[in-house]
Amino acid sequence: MSPTRPRVRPDQLRSRWWFDNPDHPGTTALCIERYMNQGITLEELTGGRPIIGICQSGSDLTPCNRHHMELAKRVKEGVRAAGGVPFEFPMHPIHENVRRPTAALDRNLAYLGLVEVLHGYPLDGVVLTTGCDKTTPAALMAAATVNIPAIVLSGGPMLNGWHGAERVGSGTIVWEMRRRLAAGDIDYAEFLSRITESAPSVGHCNTMGTASTMNSLAEALGMSLPGSAMIPGPYKERAMVAYQTGERITEMVWEDLRPGDILTREAFENAIVTCSALGGSSNAPIHVNAIARHAGVELDNDDWQRLGHGIPLLANVMPAGAYLGEEFHRAGGVPAVMHELLEAGRLHGEALTVNGQPMAANLAGRETRDPEVIRRYANPLVEHAGFLNLKGNLFDSALMKTSVISPDFRERFLSNPDDPEAFEGRVAVFDGSEDYHARIDDPSLGIDEHTILVMRGAGPVGHPGGAEVVNMQPPEALIRRGIESLPCLGDGRQSGTSGSPSILNASPEAATGGGLALLESGDRLRIDLRQGEVRLLIDEAELAARRQRLEAQGGYRYPEHQTPWQEIQRSMVEPLDRGMTLAPATKYRDVARR
Ligand code: FES
Ligand code: MG
Repeated sequence: MSPTRPRVRPDQLRSRWWFDNPDHPGTTALCIERYMNQGITLEELTGGRPIIGICQSGSDLTPCNRHHMELAKRVKEGVRAAGGVPFEFPMHPIHENVRRPTAALDRNLAYLGLVEVLHGYPLDGVVLTTGCDKTTPAALMAAATVNIPAIVLSGGPMLNGWHGAERVGSGTIVWEMRRRLAAGDIDYAEFLSRITESAPSVGHCNTMGTASTMNSLAEALGMSLPGSAMIPGPYKERAMVAYQTGERITEMVWEDLRPGDILTREAFENAIVTCSALGGSSNAPIHVNAIARHAGVELDNDDWQRLGHGIPLLANVMPAGAYLGEEFHRAGGVPAVMHELLEAGRLHGEALTVNGQPMAANLAGRETRDPEVIRRYANPLVEHAGFLNLKGNLFDSALMKTSVISPDFRERFLSNPDDPEAFEGRVAVFDGSEDYHARIDDPSLGIDEHTILVMRGAGPVGHPGGAEVVNMQPPEALIRRGIESLPCLGDGRQSGTSGSPSILNASPEAATGGGLALLESGDRLRIDLRQGEVRLLIDEAELAARRQRLEAQGGYRYPEHQTPWQEIQRSMVEPLDRGMTLAPATKYRDVARR
């Protein structure tokens, strides 16, 4: 227990309003009788014990988090050992690979649902079970809004996937096998068998995709126990940390240690820096900016470039590196990466964390145990591994993950000695992924090794939730000639497991008046990484004339709503650079205290 925090008295527990409220005897009795009918005793409900929610994000529909249904038992034992009473409840399911049209559509829905549960039920604190990509940000966004004591319990990554002696990473293998299937090297049976090898156990993706990134960043933010984020799902330490998390949340209630004490500007800056060193997902800026907005901290993509771009890549984990979750955990996990960053003066060591200690205290003595897997700051895999925030005459912000620019890509596009960080190309424009699949192999598009592929209509309004479709495969004819990637640009997202150096999350999107809507196939773009600029090379008068024509047609067209939630979210969702939050929701803070 942190010695500096005043201890909450039992009569100050929030749950007393429901269970021990003399002003509302009828309501109190109704709350008590319906929980007592489960066999819970009156003493448990009214004896001054913290009531601890366990937000269960695992289900048959969300297999990446499903082992939380077992882990929750250890959490409950920890809660009880510390004197609390656990109540488990479900979160809206979000499964990245299966949910159509996209799992991102459900992040804000799960957020809203969780805010209502945390606000409206007799909970003094909550354990947020997380894992699959959007479950982590949804939970943290809600914790930030409600601001009751909260702690994150990651489910941890799957065990490593193997094909013989070769590591097979979840997600990343799909991109590689798709190319081999397209090139005719393998048939569908081989394709399927190679992909299923990547997922050998319970847990979330074993690569540094969005799931591992967001769980690591929850720890970097100070919201989970030190060293817990990347313990593989099946390891015994995973169940042990579940128990410790249950104990700790109960203590946090007595300490009144809330997300608002932890999710400070310093914590978010630590997350940005850590994300670069991890080679984290390009979805991270969207989610971290969203959590920050709900926590009342101003954070934008300029902060990501300013603080993060110069940070070196330390985690040698796919897609940017060679290893997977098990080696990363054995090498010391998130604390070993942050230890290097702290020693290099890149972190705020004073940022408070859920165990009541400042980050620096948690990192003491946690240096890397395997400098091949978690590199020393002075010996990184890549210098300047963070995101560039590109701007220009088509959008205000678009991100490029520079840690995944391959030597081959550099050779083909960035090797002009007079202009080493810039290239120009002719664009081929697609309106959503169906259009892309229908036309990518059409020879009349004239796509060659110098073409820039553009995807639009894929932002949070154009494709409800924003589609992960910006990393586009070149036409099969090019792949057969050995051209495995082309530069891609778009207003959608990209899978965190993809190794493509795309320019993505362009905001504002085409569907809300963004400049990508004005682009035509055959236009030329200049991309200058040193200036941080993407420019459409036509004169302003032509651009204005195109805008006039588009407006006369009623703007950029996108598909009809399919469900009520798609319509509701489209009416109020903010652009990707602002976190894709729901505009009316970001003004609510500390709602548990009302
Ligand atoms: Fe769920 Fe990757 S699909 S974590
Ligand atoms: Mg994804």
